[in-house]
Amino acid sequence: MKRNILLNPGPATTTDSVKQALVVPDICPREQEFGDLTQAVLKKVVAVVNGESTHSTVIFAGSGTAGVEAALSSVVPKDGKILLLDNGAYGKRAETIIQAYGISHRTYRIGWGEFPDITEIETILKQDRELTHFAFVHHETTTGMLNPLPELLELCQKYEVDSIVDAMSSYAGLPIDLRELPIDFLISSSNKCIQGMAGTSFVIANREKLAKTETIPARNLYLNLWGNHSYIEKTGQFQFTPPVQIVYALNTALDEFFVETQAGRTARYFKAYETLLEGLEEVGLELLLPKSQHSKLLTAIVEPQSANYNFMEMHDYFYQNDITIYPGKGAKQDTFRIANIGEIDYRDMQLFNQKLLQYFEENNISPV
Ligand SMILES: Cc1ncc(COP(=O)(O)O)c(C=O)c1O
Repeated sequence: MKRNILLNPGPATTTDSVKQALVVPDICPREQEFGDLTQAVLKKVVAVVNGESTHSTVIFAGSGTAGVEAALSSVVPKDGKILLLDNGAYGKRAETIIQAYGISHRTYRIGWGEFPDITEIETILKQDRELTHFAFVHHETTTGMLNPLPELLELCQKYEVDSIVDAMSSYAGLPIDLRELPIDFLISSSNKCIQGMAGTSFVIANREKLAKTETIPARNLYLNLWGNHSYIEKTGQFQFTPPVQIVYALNTALDEFFVETQAGRTARYFKAYETLLEGLEEVGLELLLPKSQHSKLLTAIVEPQSANYNFMEMHDYFYQNDITIYPGKGAKQDTFRIANIGEIDYRDMQLFNQKLLQYFEENNISPV
């Protein structure tokens, strides 16, 4: 099969075996065989973050936003109040969801590309004792910033608020160990660093915290966390029609993750990132963020001011060479973005670097 190098932040490049896992004999998802597959997938999803003994997976048909919406709409009680961190498009999206449900909230808003100030957040938590939850993004894919997960979780513990972590683009890419990190609700999807196909999202929920949501009057049906969880516990099956083939592909992707191991995957991704940075430096491009804030999974690159530069033309040049690059998304400076997740490695990044240099030279583009 033709291989495309996807340098967008997911859906990411997949292995041929994950693609092939989509082609299975037709099966009714109410059959025991599919129920067994579902149960195996739920266990493997939580095992990626070592949460087997404390957490359960609740899986949804839908893109990542479905999981985020399920968690946000289902865990805050009527008299609860949630703190949100907005330093990128996905923090902002969490706020949009919360507003759509009319849930009491407060937003700590900083620029898209600004690093959260722990002292400022602590002041909010100290002063506003109505807060019961804190939702934030781990890897803010808008900018490639890794928000300070351990420090934010420490604040949650200190002020006794439940944590909801959107780990969409970090889960399986970076080590997240639930034996050490007290995350109450962690959300991700099948098509980013776990390297499956798009179509499912999951909430990995602390069992005690999840049980407490049973008495919260449901604000929705399809995306209700407790509703989906209790159904799957009772029957072993998805509550609603699952994306059958996507679940098969996810199962294969999970098996491949455990063969590669978390350490192996992170090392592969980081080597690709280091290679990318070498190429960017050679061309002379500027990075949006200081390196200390990088997730090393996605890099936001400041767009050249040169009149000869046009993102879509550059995109089309790469696309003709089977490489997909990605535009920016409202960060404090105009950027384009290069992700190094999925079934790619440093050699793909070397190819990208080569083409980038060639493109800038051929089109006489000044990098700043
Ligand atoms: C951090 C983060 N949260 C949420 C989402 C939304 O996921 P989806 O586009 O699959 O709905 C994304 C997608 O890139 C993301 O990176």
